[in-house]
Amino acid sequence: MKTIIVGFGFIGRDLVRVINEKRDIITKYDRNFKLVGVSNSKGYIYNEEGLDLEKLLKIKNLSEYGKNYKDNGSSLELIQKSNADLMVEATPTRIQDGEPGLSYIKKALNIGIHVVTSNKGPLVVAFQELSALAKKNNCEFLFEATVAGAVPIFSLVRECLQGDKVKRISGILNGTTNYILSKMYFEETSFELALKEAQERKISEKDPSYDVDGIDAACKLVILANALMDRNAKFEDVERLGIRGITQNAVSLAKKSKFAIKLVGTIDKKLEVAPKLVPINHPLCVHGTLNAVHVETDLANEITIIGYGAGKETVSAVFNDVLTVLKKAKTTA
Ligand SMILES: NC(=O)c1ccc[n+]([C@@H]2O[C@H](COP(=O)([O-])OP(=O)(O)OC[C@H]3O[C@@H](n4cnc5c(N)ncnc54)[C@H](OP(=O)(O)O)[C@@H]3O)[C@@H](O)[C@H]2O)c1
Repeated sequence: MKTIIVGFGFIGRDLVRVINEKRDIITKYDRNFKLVGVSNSKGYIYNEEGLDLEKLLKIKNLSEYGKNYKDNGSSLELIQKSNADLMVEATPTRIQDGEPGLSYIKKALNIGIHVVTSNKGPLVVAFQELSALAKKNNCEFLFEATVAGAVPIFSLVRECLQGDKVKRISGILNGTTNYILSKMYFEETSFELALKEAQERKISEKDPSYDVDGIDAACKLVILANALMDRNAKFEDVERLGIRGITQNAVSLAKKSKFAIKLVGTIDKKLEVAPKLVPINHPLCVHGTLNAVHVETDLANEITIIGYGAGKETVSAVFNDVLTVLKKAKTTA
């Protein structure tokens, strides 16, 4: 399978490292797997014979790769010319319009290229359209890393709960707010101090609103609702309240009654992100940067999975999606 990676930052690079290290697993499904192209915002590298992964991992800028580099070459051009079978898309998230990932994914699916993405933007904006396009063109469209990072919630439901009906989902879907609330809970710090430390430790952006106002968690709820509960949810449908108003006093009072305040996303009749009192012995009561997703289904009743929602563990979700595409292609060949 010929593969390209569009967006060569933290995720794209880490995927190349893992592809290089776990070549034996890839070979089990596809002996002809080749990474033929990689792009970022400045250009792309393309070689139909396959790229040298060791060399790729050593360079800082794609231009250092040498003669296969096309300066200013667009990712759309790479997608078109590569004749690839699979595109991994890992460009920055823009929830306003899903770009640039939305155009890349549409382009790939339109010409029959399977897609694996870690980018929430395109799914928040156009989940139904992209799913329909994938179906029409017999393409896989996988997005495990978009919600709760390394936590395999979509694979769990798709593979292990395929006969269940998902009735309700709740989750701790944002590691930054969970870190802040955990710090307030365990160290009795104020919201402001906990946020400052999260920023110093690069767990939060300089502009923290995307996390602390619940925007990131709301995006993830929309994706979960559409992918797992057949909804046609939009970002605007989510009732959203962040954690800026949570005081140390409120956290302490809750703690005395054996509760923790957590930013919980819930999909029930409505979609809601809001601070909630979670009993300390409830499986959703995870701390630090951990994420947790709790699904309630007709047959299994309740299942919770917990894991890392961002950072170096995320490559697990992307790599396993790639393997799923290779495995399915092998069984249908
Ligand atoms: N990092 C995580 O832990 C994590 C976890 C889950 C999901 N995600 C999602 O995964 C995606 C990638 O994350 P990341 O951490 O790898 O981001 P990143 O380090 O910022 O990398 C983004 C890459 O996309 C490239 N890019 C930007 N604009 C582009 C354009 N118009 N066309 C082509 N390439 C473009 C950047 O190129 P330049 O360097 O040239 O700008 C860079 O190579 C994001 O949507 C993120 O939300 C990340």
